[in-house]
Amino acid sequence: MERIIITGGKPLYGEISVSGFKNAAAPIIFATILAQDKCVIENLPDISDVRVALDILTAMGAYVKYTGDTTVEIDTTNINPGGAPVELVRKMRASYYLLGAELGRFGKATVGTPGGCDLGERPIDQHIKGFEALGATVEVDESTNTIVATAPEGGRLIGDSVYLDVVTVGATINIMLAAVLAEGTTVIENAAHEPHIVDTANFLNSCGAEISGAGTDSIRIRGVKRLHGTTYAIIPDMIEAGTYMILAAATNGKLKISNLIPKHVESITAKLEEMGIIVEEGDESVTVYRGEKLNKVNIKTLPYPGFPTDMNPQICVMMCLLDNHTKCTLTEGVWENRFRYVEELKRMGACITVNGRRAEVEGVGRLHGAKVRAVDLRAGVAMVIAGLAASGQTEIDEIFHIQRGYDNIVEKLKSVGADIDLVTISDSYTKISD
Ligand code: EPZ
Repeated sequence: MERIIITGGKPLYGEISVSGFKNAAAPIIFATILAQDKCVIENLPDISDVRVALDILTAMGAYVKYTGDTTVEIDTTNINPGGAPVELVRKMRASYYLLGAELGRFGKATVGTPGGCDLGERPIDQHIKGFEALGATVEVDESTNTIVATAPEGGRLIGDSVYLDVVTVGATINIMLAAVLAEGTTVIENAAHEPHIVDTANFLNSCGAEISGAGTDSIRIRGVKRLHGTTYAIIPDMIEAGTYMILAAATNGKLKISNLIPKHVESITAKLEEMGIIVEEGDESVTVYRGEKLNKVNIKTLPYPGFPTDMNPQICVMMCLLDNHTKCTLTEGVWENRFRYVEELKRMGACITVNGRRAEVEGVGRLHGAKVRAVDLRAGVAMVIAGLAASGQTEIDEIFHIQRGYDNIVEKLKSVGADIDLVTISDSYTKISD
């Protein structure tokens, strides 16, 4: 078991380079199944979700080989459908993309129910609705927790139009995966707009798919008979970028966040500026520091291009750091249970009242160090921000959540002056990272 130990209160200065986007890497890795050929994927983040996704493909019989620190060669020519080990599938949410990819290529998918962060109910009814609209039969075996999707006779799905009842990233991508090799044209209406949907569509198009409209409400996929291999670089992680933007302001330092697409963080930039934080945009970077005075702000998280739900815990820490008694409202518009981290922040002196999906956050000026847990991925990184901004020492447990999504976080933070260590927990601490 590992723990992060932070001595906070130091402003951070310097430059942090953003890694490839976790939420684009996972669908693109599973989309290589559809290519049935050799693909070279570049700019992969070194995070456990990527390692698990690659382990799943390897277990299914794919050839997977790193040819550089962030570049991997994947050849899915000889994979076995239905061969994904349940224990690996349960380690990550994005393993549900195996359903669309296997169904599209083999006409049949057998996949265990996925894992991931506990954010309340996480149904996949819209994924299933999409597969069914393309002619598949979908059965969920509750006793083995397995989902089996089967294409109509002949083994090929048939394009049709699918209207999504809720805006969902996962279902939009999964239906796109299923549809690229279908017969005829599929139209996804009320599709989600997130940049990783566009990135997945761009990857598939570079393999010979015919997808248009990704990034809008309506995505059109003209089915093709076969895809081919490609070389493709994953876009930068907008949530990692946003996390470090908040870190700069929270520690009252100045950070240049490089290798990002500023447009992808526009909603974060807008809200930080409203709070009195300066965000200077470069071509592929932003530089962030506090202005003269911090202001209150109210935020509701929404699907892209709204303020991202995956930045909810991080912005909450910033709200806590406002002057005493300054009140902000943070409303969660995507997940039913995103505020589990509040109890942890309270251990550090935060003053937050949660009522359903709404939190009233009262500024306390400064937090103090405490022993806390990473209750999920973004909650965990919020504890890192809080710990670095707080006075005294913070110890964060259950950091495997953070390691699922933040590439090299301890080293990146040390490089900008953070007093942070990763230790293994035994009778006495052993430092394993310096
Ligand atoms: C993706 O989850 C991300 N995960 C999440 O990031 C992110 O919070 C979320 O999108 C929203 O941006 C991955 O990419 C692996 P959704 P996903 O389908 O695709 C409801 C992180 O920290 N819904 O867009 O599972 C659902 O309950 C993680 O990186 C249905 O009702 O989310 C939710 O309220 C956490 N039926 C809303 O839609 C469905 O069939 C959005 O979910 C599917 C979803």
